[in-house]
Amino acid sequence: MTIRVLSVASEVYPLVKTGGLADVVGALPGALAGHGVELTTLIPGYPQVLASAGKLRVVHRWPALLGTTARLLAGKIDGYPLFVLDAPGLLARDGNIYTDAGGKDWHDNWRRFAALARAAADLGSGGVTGYTFDIVHAHDWQAALAPVYLRHAPVSATVARSIVTIHNMAFSGWFDPGILPWLGLPDDLFTLDGVEFFGGVGYLKGGMQAADAITTVSPSYAQEILTPEFGMGLEGLVAARRDRVSGIVNGIDPAIWDPASDAALSARYTERTLGRREANKRAVETRFALEPDDGPIFTVVSRLTWQKGMDVLAECVDDLVAKGARLALLGSGDVVLEEAFRLAADRHPGRIGVMIGYDEAVSHLLQGGADAILIPSRFEPCGLTQLYGLAYGCVPVVARTGGLNDTIIDANEAALAAGVATGFQFAGVSRDTLTAAIARAVRLYADRAAWTTMQKRGMRSDFSWERSGLRYAQVYRKLLNT
Ligand code: ADP
Ligand code: GLC
Repeated sequence: MTIRVLSVASEVYPLVKTGGLADVVGALPGALAGHGVELTTLIPGYPQVLASAGKLRVVHRWPALLGTTARLLAGKIDGYPLFVLDAPGLLARDGNIYTDAGGKDWHDNWRRFAALARAAADLGSGGVTGYTFDIVHAHDWQAALAPVYLRHAPVSATVARSIVTIHNMAFSGWFDPGILPWLGLPDDLFTLDGVEFFGGVGYLKGGMQAADAITTVSPSYAQEILTPEFGMGLEGLVAARRDRVSGIVNGIDPAIWDPASDAALSARYTERTLGRREANKRAVETRFALEPDDGPIFTVVSRLTWQKGMDVLAECVDDLVAKGARLALLGSGDVVLEEAFRLAADRHPGRIGVMIGYDEAVSHLLQGGADAILIPSRFEPCGLTQLYGLAYGCVPVVARTGGLNDTIIDANEAALAAGVATGFQFAGVSRDTLTAAIARAVRLYADRAAWTTMQKRGMRSDFSWERSGLRYAQVYRKLLNT
């Protein structure tokens, strides 16, 4: 029997993306198609989505969805079914999908994403004629009220089972308790085993409480969120629902991330034609105004935030240059960090090149041309850029946390001797540990044969969705007892 799943999220590549969530949501339908699962994606109809989603037809109207008129539009994304929630009162505004022009969260984010969740729950409980789903799969806090609404669907309805996937526990969707009457949920839900969270309404908390299963995006992170350091106040709930929590590592979408066919590269290559990669390195040098030489280029493709350890990297860049290495950084985020990297580039012309902004094509070129990618995250639920690094022969240098721990094998003596190393890991994010990891990478880079062997091993390693697609399908089947 085909399992019909509604996957609900605030972003999906290629229609709208601010981070890895979009990549994962975009890849899931393809990852699950081979496992007897038909996945339909539901996303908000931001202006850029309505403009780029292609042909959409109206399949449902809500006179008042969280107090605003809304329509459900149906179309396709990469050949898979797509729903777009068209609610202009909440979504028809320019700029960032989460924040206003001043960088502050939209004042009505609680309503915008409650509407998304409410629409999902209607779809999962027979409220939209012509559609039924076995499972509603909610991603992150923006979709997390869906399981809560499903629990309070009319008793007469056939209600879908539900899953919440936590992509990042640090964003829990916390709102003032005053919103509760507007959510259309029973008042008695404002309790510890309902949606109450530190005196307010917690969307992720409520979703984790109500969902039939909880997943997160790596086995290590599934363990880490049991601790106060990573659990962000929800560790007790994770522990209480432990038997329903699993960690499933993300894969990468080969239709988008494959150096053999990547149009953003100057030269395409495979593990067997790795020499061609050189042309991409030259292109990176030109693009980032780096002096050409034979030493290693480190890259960073990242949100510039505390989570990603970018403040620590900013402290290490002078050491990196002193070791004869160069840095090409693409990122945006905290203005203080953006400025720190701009200043670093001014201090080291030709050795550090910085592009502040968001550029999909440049991110591909960096993976295909730089020698190593630095990911000094303080926490990392999964991380995708290390997987892209593996696939592109851009050796990952990562902090030992979350999904970085689960996907990269450190080049220690034993791993090198056994021929299994795929990158560098370091424990604890500090100037000393990151500088030491960079030094290890620079040393191994000097041994060209050893470096090339490691690059090729990374390219051969399994970063596909094959295993993880199967794991999600198993979680779905378990919920349905099939
Ligand atoms: P997170 O979702 O926490 O930001 P991930 O590693 O899971 O981290 O995913 C980040 C995604 O965003 C990757 O696809 C990465 O290539 C992309 N990305 C991050 N910053 C930029 C940028 N400045 N320009 C282009 N792509 C970026
Ligand atoms: C979040 C996490 C990141 C993960 C991504 C996709 O943004 O920070 O580690 O890879 O979600 O699951």
